[in-house]
Amino acid sequence: MADVKLNDRLQAYGSEVAKIVRAVSDATDEVFTELPHRRWKEATKNIYGETQEALDVWTNQIFLKRMQETGCVKAYISEELGEPWINPDDTGGYTVTIDPLDGSSNIESNNCFGTIVGIHKEKDLLAEGRKQVLAFYNLYGPITTLVTADGKHACEYVKHRKGSSDYWLWKEGLKLSDPGKLMGLGGSPNKWTPAVKDFVDYMTTLKLKVRYGGAFVGDINQILFYGGCFMYPEMTDKPQGKLRLVIECNPMAYIISTAGGYASNGVSAILDAKPKEYDERTPVYIGSTSVVRKFEEIRAKYK
Ligand code: F6P
Ligand code: MN
Repeated sequence: MADVKLNDRLQAYGSEVAKIVRAVSDATDEVFTELPHRRWKEATKNIYGETQEALDVWTNQIFLKRMQETGCVKAYISEELGEPWINPDDTGGYTVTIDPLDGSSNIESNNCFGTIVGIHKEKDLLAEGRKQVLAFYNLYGPITTLVTADGKHACEYVKHRKGSSDYWLWKEGLKLSDPGKLMGLGGSPNKWTPAVKDFVDYMTTLKLKVRYGGAFVGDINQILFYGGCFMYPEMTDKPQGKLRLVIECNPMAYIISTAGGYASNGVSAILDAKPKEYDERTPVYIGSTSVVRKFEEIRAKYK
């Protein structure tokens, strides 16, 4: 791969979008070096009633400040804020959705976690995911990577290659294999609906292997590279599943769809769902197109 930096590639999206991505990518060293030092819980809860990790609160403050400094952000919708931050100066053209530290339940066990971002240019702060102009995630793993998608191309950049602190292009034109190799299965099997259980049986016939890491970023990343399907499905006690439409599922649906895959809520494309609330949840089945479509088929028989 030729030596291409993330910053060079970002220019194609205009200076404002480039600044927004850099607000996250330039903070990687600061975030990464802080991760080992804040492994405790706060007394506060987020809007979903989940106890906040110190790192959730801290990363949110870092990214909010950096987004504010860009002057390009009109609204910042975060998993860790009760209400979106709205730019009082009305200078920015873009809405940013962010999960500052996805997979924070992995902090104690030291499995992977990351940051998920969606960028919109719509007037409507609750626009459909298909209207994103760019989505990306950062994976703070043994190899720190940043994956971007613009609707046409999905690319992986890797940090610290050859000792440089920049992100370098590692793979472009990412495409999911189909049916792929893996299934990532979220939730307790005893809460899965009959349709979900049938679907898992179907994936077993495809000889997909089970791999689940407990962070959406990591679980999507392995599907992007190995194909298959990740689901955090509808459950008998939680028909809406666990994951959040606006800040988690939409950016990932955009990335996986750009790479030739598909993301569904079980009935139709996640990217076409019109969010009603910032904190709305959705069941999600995401990965290789033929596999995810099969779930829609199976589920339709149960209605
Ligand atoms: O952000 C929510 C999240 O931590 C995701 O990263 C992950 O996919 C999921 O929840 C893990 O949930 P569970 O702990 O129920 O497996
Ligand atoms: Mn998350």
